[in-house]
Amino acid sequence: MTTNPSTAQAHLFSEWKGHEREPVVGDVYRRGDVAIHFDQAEKLYADWPAPTCIISDGPYGVSGFPGDNHKAESLAEWYEPHFKAWSEYASPETTLWFWGTEVGWATVHPVLISNGWEYRCCNIWDKGLGHIAGNANSRTLRKFPVVTEVCVHYVKAAIFEVGGHSLTMQEWLRHEWKRTGLPFRLANEACGVLNAATRKYLTSDHLWYFPPADAFVRLAQYANDHGDPAGRPYFCVNGSSPISGRQWARLRAKFTCDVGITNVWREPQVSGSERIQGTRNGMKYKFKSLHGSQKPLKFLDLTIRASTEKGDVVWEPFGGLCPGAVVSHYLGRAYRAAEIIPEFYVAAVERLATS
Ligand SMILES: C[S@@+](CC[C@H](N)C(=O)[O-])C[C@H]1O[C@@H](n2cnc3c(N)ncnc32)[C@H](O)[C@@H]1O
Repeated sequence: MTTNPSTAQAHLFSEWKGHEREPVVGDVYRRGDVAIHFDQAEKLYADWPAPTCIISDGPYGVSGFPGDNHKAESLAEWYEPHFKAWSEYASPETTLWFWGTEVGWATVHPVLISNGWEYRCCNIWDKGLGHIAGNANSRTLRKFPVVTEVCVHYVKAAIFEVGGHSLTMQEWLRHEWKRTGLPFRLANEACGVLNAATRKYLTSDHLWYFPPADAFVRLAQYANDHGDPAGRPYFCVNGSSPISGRQWARLRAKFTCDVGITNVWREPQVSGSERIQGTRNGMKYKFKSLHGSQKPLKFLDLTIRASTEKGDVVWEPFGGLCPGAVVSHYLGRAYRAAEIIPEFYVAAVERLATS
């Protein structure tokens, strides 16, 4: 085993070419704007460009790989500094994909919420019966054999600071319209709709809907033309002009997905040529099946495409074999990852270099 980040002295950001020597803490391998660091992720966030998408596949609390926590109960405390940092460096355009076991996720969910992450959906990876074939005796287990993991979708909600209070986007839209002194029904006239503005964009109930940029611009224009002159400008955060349509569109996370994809992802464990094993890079590292938690490239492709566009930045703080690096490279995304186990780091670098 070579140098470990916990014991080695850091020398930040020395380029590592993947051949000439073993990696030491602070090394980074780059292919274009795709970079894999040999270091602890928490030491790197401040130096990375702001993320549009964060893929978290860290400890599970099942002792599944070297360094994995032994119990799910310890995960909330372990993850909290990461959640805080992600929140600090994210923008309202950012999506977080949090991988874990069901109970691991349940344990950390409240901590994600209290750090400003808004829950969207729990996606379930169903690995199928092949995952337990010949390996699970439910009489001994005393439960149904588990063939799933979850990949939970969060976004960084926009927050508006008003008079010492933090308002959600829904609250802020309503607050701004109320300030104009105009009746709510006029918001429909402003947007040129029958009742969508009052029923969706300005409602205080669960039927609230994000106003598309053109509707927002019309609301803001109407409010500033007809609202109480004393309160102008309305729908403004810089003290002088209302938020533009372009700025408004950037106040929520990106999302796009093909028809027919649901939150149940049926896919066997990685196998065949995608499963990384063997000696890496002519170096001394030997692996049977290298990483117990290797994720199918298909899921990285799905989540990165869904939440980013060309040129956007993807973070994969707990890289492992860094599947996001391969996908970001071919999709034209910038990418930053960290890994602390030398064997995994070497294999991830080789994988990116040859992809
Ligand atoms: C679940 S695995 C990731 C597997 C990866 N998604 C893949 O497909 O290969 C988590 C990885 O995070 C690494 N890790 C744990 N703590 C870390 C930290 N503080 N900074 C960077 N990597 C860390 C572990 O060594 C482990 O390889």
